Amino acid sequence: MAAAGPDKPRILVTRKMMPDVERRAAAAFHATLNPDDRPMTLAEVLSAAASHDGLLLTSFDKLGPDFIPALPASIRIIATHSVGYDHLNIPQAKARGITVTNTPGVLTDATADIAMLLLLGAARGASWGDRMVRENRWGETTLIAPMGFDVSGKRLGILGMGRIGQAVAKRAAGFGMELHYHSRNPVAPADGFGATYHQRFEDMLPHCDFLSINCASTPETRGILNARAISLLPEDAIVVNSARGDIVDDDALIAALSSGRLAAAGLDVFKGEPQIDPRYRSLENVFLLPHLGSATPGTRSAMGHKCIDNLEAFFRGERPTDLLT
Ligand code: DGY
Repeated sequence: MAAAGPDKPRILVTRKMMPDVERRAAAAFHATLNPDDRPMTLAEVLSAAASHDGLLLTSFDKLGPDFIPALPASIRIIATHSVGYDHLNIPQAKARGITVTNTPGVLTDATADIAMLLLLGAARGASWGDRMVRENRWGETTLIAPMGFDVSGKRLGILGMGRIGQAVAKRAAGFGMELHYHSRNPVAPADGFGATYHQRFEDMLPHCDFLSINCASTPETRGILNARAISLLPEDAIVVNSARGDIVDDDALIAALSSGRLAAAGLDVFKGEPQIDPRYRSLENVFLLPHLGSATPGTRSAMGHKCIDNLEAFFRGERPTDLLT
């Protein structure tokens, strides 16, 4: 379970990682792994942390954003196996002198692929189509029903034009979509793949047959897709979210999907996941995935290695590449 070595840093790894990542962690550190992958409670993490120098944790750990003040003094670094870090209170870490790193870059393509899957799946009825085949209801199909919505040539608005937003733009350009985006600052034209910049989120919404959420969850973006924002979308718009669930106001989205004001939604992320708002389960016009954005072996392995690169750099006394503090 652990690789001994008195002079090696002691690292607590909260979830089971890809085998190559675990092998490297065990060789590089005195690593406590989680071979059964049983999710650890906050109390278990805090208690185990006392005999470790660093944590390799994930955004799937349910530790609450305020666990950093409770960490023992031994913890000097937290490497999160995620690009998102809304599960960590960075100012609290800074105040305690704890270094925090994340894994940008290596999950961009996988996450943008999932955004396109959500977009296509929501528009073309991947969820209900799959159910019809499994339930032996093919005979119900006619030339006029059921039907999905066109994607090619439609307008796509991207909220958040960072790495993943740009990768979504690149893919959507291949579908001949007319691209729009909103982010804090405009990107270089080549990185936007011809997308039109909207300084205000509200100004972009009327141009979105599709809206893809690709921004980070921050105090500014939490709940930004609310009833008012939805009212500015065209009739029959489709919303996809591969970023974080709390960017969406669930009540507003569910009301719009139930009434038919929005045509469909594709969601890989949910507020409070894995406990999702149960009303999503009974909606026919949603395509739901269990936070699979980075879930490919190559991507998960690259994320794990990035965490170890950052931990190794830190313990060598160097500046980790993906520093958040
Ligand atoms: C990320 O890296 O932030 C993904 O959403 C997985 O947590």
